Amino acid sequence: MNPFALPAAELQALAGEHGTPLYVVSRRRIVENYRRLDAALPAAQLFYAVKANPQADILAALAEIGAGFDVASRGEVMAAVAACANPRDDLIFADTVKDPRQIAYAASIGLDDFTFDNASEITQIARHAPGSHVHLRLAVSNHGSVAHLSDKFGARPQEAVTLLLRARDAGLDPRGISFHVGSQCLAPERYVEALKLTRTVFDEAAAAGLMLSSVDIGGGFPVRYGQEDFDIPAMGRLIGNCFTDLFTEDVRLVAEPGRAVVGDAVCLVTKVISESVRDGRNWLYFDDGTYCSFLEVLLYRQRYPLRALTDGPATSYVLAGPTCDSIDVFSRDDRGEVCTVELPEMHLDDLLVAGSMGAYTFSESTRFNGFEPPPFVFID
Ligand SMILES: Cc1ncc(COP(=O)(O)O)c(C=O)c1O
Repeated sequence: MNPFALPAAELQALAGEHGTPLYVVSRRRIVENYRRLDAALPAAQLFYAVKANPQADILAALAEIGAGFDVASRGEVMAAVAACANPRDDLIFADTVKDPRQIAYAASIGLDDFTFDNASEITQIARHAPGSHVHLRLAVSNHGSVAHLSDKFGARPQEAVTLLLRARDAGLDPRGISFHVGSQCLAPERYVEALKLTRTVFDEAAAAGLMLSSVDIGGGFPVRYGQEDFDIPAMGRLIGNCFTDLFTEDVRLVAEPGRAVVGDAVCLVTKVISESVRDGRNWLYFDDGTYCSFLEVLLYRQRYPLRALTDGPATSYVLAGPTCDSIDVFSRDDRGEVCTVELPEMHLDDLLVAGSMGAYTFSESTRFNGFEPPPFVFID
């Protein structure tokens, strides 16, 4: 179940027993989410993007049901290996900007699948992981997604074949193409466009004597935070049909979902630790904020579903975190400006629950002001 929907008494009891802030997690929901993606993309091999949430028990639950892992650093490699992933078969090093020491570490334990998008990465991978399989990441349109990853990553299509040939000449084994349509993608046609672009690169590479055999469609599958309209099985059918139309059966399909696996499997319980009235507005201060679980509010105007575990009359509040920075406010409008939200009247020690807090919360939390990220409690 989605732990956001747990009865108030259960959430209060968990907070009483474990303290706040607290991540409440449904392992069953994580497994269901993974299986739903797996069923929607039956031809694809799934590599869970560890960056979405690297918590050890979550990785172990996913490893147990056969997930592979997309990793981006030595720390993520170690976390996946601790969850029993086999470096050679179960891991892709999919970050295109890699510290050479981390390439060397990954290669030393057997990881041999790396993603790149520029010539210097070819040099680094060839030097520290000679002979490895590589995927070239293409920049594709991220329009309609919340986090635009092609702003920083991906080669232009016109440089793709040159880079692939250069990788081959450096002794690497170019297997195929990867892309990312952007995180929280609400425009499934982006995958179709990106697959068509990938087909073009496959053809140009073949004409240059290089046969590619693998397509990695990255992540991007969305999570429901509010009224978002999407249908994962329909997205999967669209992608699957397009893939079948464009590529032969021997081409491998890979996906790296993160957000959609863990997003709605976790809720956060946070407590009011202070309250005030400032310039006529009611402020509530919580024991978690934008430096910890709510960073995506600042980065992407994320709005999490909120539920106060109190019963009072509806009241408008500014919601803030505990740190010494005034940017630490997580009630913000579409432009990122501080705003109020309506909640049942709340006071000191009352509890607020935020839903869909599984992805890019714990993993993006800082230790600013000495605050530690919340612990995790599993309900099943
Ligand atoms: C290379 C790569 N793969 C997969 C993902 C996971 O994306 P999502 O959480 O949107 O599924 C990301 C996210 O940043 C990424 O950079």
